[in-house]
Amino acid sequence: MRWFNHGIIEKNLVLMGVLTLITVSIGGLAQIVPLFTVESTIERVEGVRPYTPLELAGRNIYVREGCYLCHSQMVRPFRDELERYGAYSLAAESMYDHPFQWGSKRTGPDLARVGGRYSDDWHAAHLRSPRAVVPESVMPPYAFLDRLLNMGDIADHLRAQAAVGVPYTAEMIANARADLVAQARPDLDGANFSARYARARQGTFDGNAAVVTEMDALVAYLQMLGTLVRFSDVTPEQVRQQ
Ligand code: HEC
Repeated sequence: MRWFNHGIIEKNLVLMGVLTLITVSIGGLAQIVPLFTVESTIERVEGVRPYTPLELAGRNIYVREGCYLCHSQMVRPFRDELERYGAYSLAAESMYDHPFQWGSKRTGPDLARVGGRYSDDWHAAHLRSPRAVVPESVMPPYAFLDRLLNMGDIADHLRAQAAVGVPYTAEMIANARADLVAQARPDLDGANFSARYARARQGTFDGNAAVVTEMDALVAYLQMLGTLVRFSDVTPEQVRQQ
C-alpha cells in the first residue's frame, strides 16, 4: 500500500509493541465486555436443583474417596460418547457443584448419567465388592462405607454451599438433618422433604432401612446423577428412539 508507510512501524519496536497491544486489546474487549452485561453465562435449565442433604453427604464421600481420580462426570458432545452415555452434559447440570467433578481421567466409565441405570442393590453390591458384580473390574472395594453416616454437621455443609451461591433456603438449612433422614427412610413421611426437593427419591439405598450409612448417601448421590433434566425434549438421538 503506497499511501501508508509500513516501514515506520516495522522499524520502530516500541511503536510496533504499542500498536500490537491496542489491536489485541480491542479483540479481548470485544469478547469480555458483553459478558459483563449478562447475569450468568450458564443457561438455566428446567429441573436442576440443589442436592438434597443425603445426596450432598454422598457427594462429599465421593470427593473424600477420590472417585473423581478414575471417573469423569462430563459427557462430551461426540457421537461415541452420546451413544455410550446419553445426552451430553449441560453447564447447568454442574452449576451447583462446588467443587465441580468433571474429572480428567476415565479409568472407569463416565458417571454423569449413571443415575437410574442400575438398581440401588446393584450399586451397593458393586461398591462393596466391584469384582463380585463385574469380574474384570479394577475398581477398589468400598465395603467400609457400610458404617454410620456422620450427619451432625449436615446443616453446616448446606450453609457452606449457600455461602458460595447455591440457593439453599433458611428452611432447607433448618430441616437439613430431618430431610437427610427422611430420604434414607421410606417408612417415614417424606411429604415435606419432597416439597423442598423436586424429583428426589426416598429409598433404603443400601438395603437396610434401620440405619443411615455412608453407603446410603453415596448410592443416593449416584442414583440422582444426570436425572434432573428431562432430555427427551433436548436430544434428537433420544427423540428418534422413542
Ligand atoms: C482405580 C480406579 C477407580 C476408582 C478409584 C473408582 N472406580 Fe468406579 N469404576 C472403575 C472401573 C474400572 C469401573 C468399570 C468396571 C466396573 O463396573 O467395576 C468402574 C465402575 C464404576 C461404576 C459403574 C459405572 C457404569 O456405568 O457401569 C460406578 C457407579 C462406580 N464405578 C462408582 C465409583 C465410586 C462411587 C467410586 C468412589 C467411591 C469409584 N467408582 C472409584 C474404576 C474406579
